Amino acid sequence: MYGNAYISPEDTKRLNATQEDPENLAEFEARIARGEKIEPHDWMPVEYKRQLLRMIEQHAHSEIVGALPEGTWITRAPNFRRKLALIAKVQDEIGHGQLLYSAAETLGKSREAMLHDLLIGKSKYSNVFNYPAETWADVAVIGFLVDGAAIVNQVINSKGSYGPYCRALERICYEESFHLKQGHDNVVYLATGSKKQREMLQAAINRWYRPLLHFFGPPDVASEHSEKLMRWKVKLASNDDMRNQFLDQYVPKILELGLTFPDPNLRKNPDTGIWEFSDPDWDEFKRVISGNGPCNAERLAVRKYAEEAGKWVRLALTRNTDSYVTPLA
Ligand code: COA
Repeated sequence: MYGNAYISPEDTKRLNATQEDPENLAEFEARIARGEKIEPHDWMPVEYKRQLLRMIEQHAHSEIVGALPEGTWITRAPNFRRKLALIAKVQDEIGHGQLLYSAAETLGKSREAMLHDLLIGKSKYSNVFNYPAETWADVAVIGFLVDGAAIVNQVINSKGSYGPYCRALERICYEESFHLKQGHDNVVYLATGSKKQREMLQAAINRWYRPLLHFFGPPDVASEHSEKLMRWKVKLASNDDMRNQFLDQYVPKILELGLTFPDPNLRKNPDTGIWEFSDPDWDEFKRVISGNGPCNAERLAVRKYAEEAGKWVRLALTRNTDSYVTPLA
């Protein structure tokens, strides 16, 4: 019933009692209505805590797994300037993971427990990072469109009700906006380059189109958590609204470069202002987020290796010299 989020014995007692205390709940909801931030030591409903932890934990995992597809291109970047920018970006993404794990820890689950749940395949992370970066153009598309999608989502979430998450997101958004610039620069460079470069870019856009539509989650009618999250202002826009905002901002930018999307039905309805598109195959989305995408096994294997190989660093940092071991001994 409670997924993998941390529920303390005290929380369980509260849940076993008939309901949350109505006075506490009313005061909590009034604070949210007034636009106040909820801080870790404030009273909060168990379900609010559970939902936040689920979401922030998944977000943190997405950052550290998200560094992997692009990370595979550091050694193959086409020139020194691109290599430097990519190294810095990948490093930033790992840093975002650190910020988000710290925010999630304020809700009572340790970083070790979160990483454990990621490695055993219990925790989710974003669908988009389970696809390969086949060519350098995928790096460009990730930097522009995946980071662009992430910014749409994160700018909205940063206005939410939980203080530590919002503060982490504000910092993340500053850095993401630089990632977006390098992604845009990379896309424009390829789009205005040789025929081969344009073809490579178009092929990458075709590959990322559907995963990008999936990125914002299932359609509102099928979204399990949106209602509660929006009531408590953890989410300030629905999945469909965020997806629409993304299409509104980024489709014209791709079209103006003379590139296309692989969907004849993609269009903005002039009467409603809403973007319409073909069914992006929600079964594929479900397969990918439940561990059966093209790269899920590879991503977790790399994370497991990193965990093992980095063990001696963690031990050294905690000065636990008695059990100091070399990782691969
Ligand atoms: N990738 C993987 N899983 C996803 C997903 C995605 N793009 N979108 C939705 N899901 C999962 C949800 O986590 C949930 O699974 P769970 O019940 O096992 O936790 C399920 O699909 C149902 O979706 P929904 O009820 O719509 O989830 P939600 O209300 O949490 O909304 C997000 C989904 C992604 C919009 C929301 O969680 C969010 O804003 N997260 C923070 C930002 C983030 O993680 N960004 C990704 C990396 S930059």
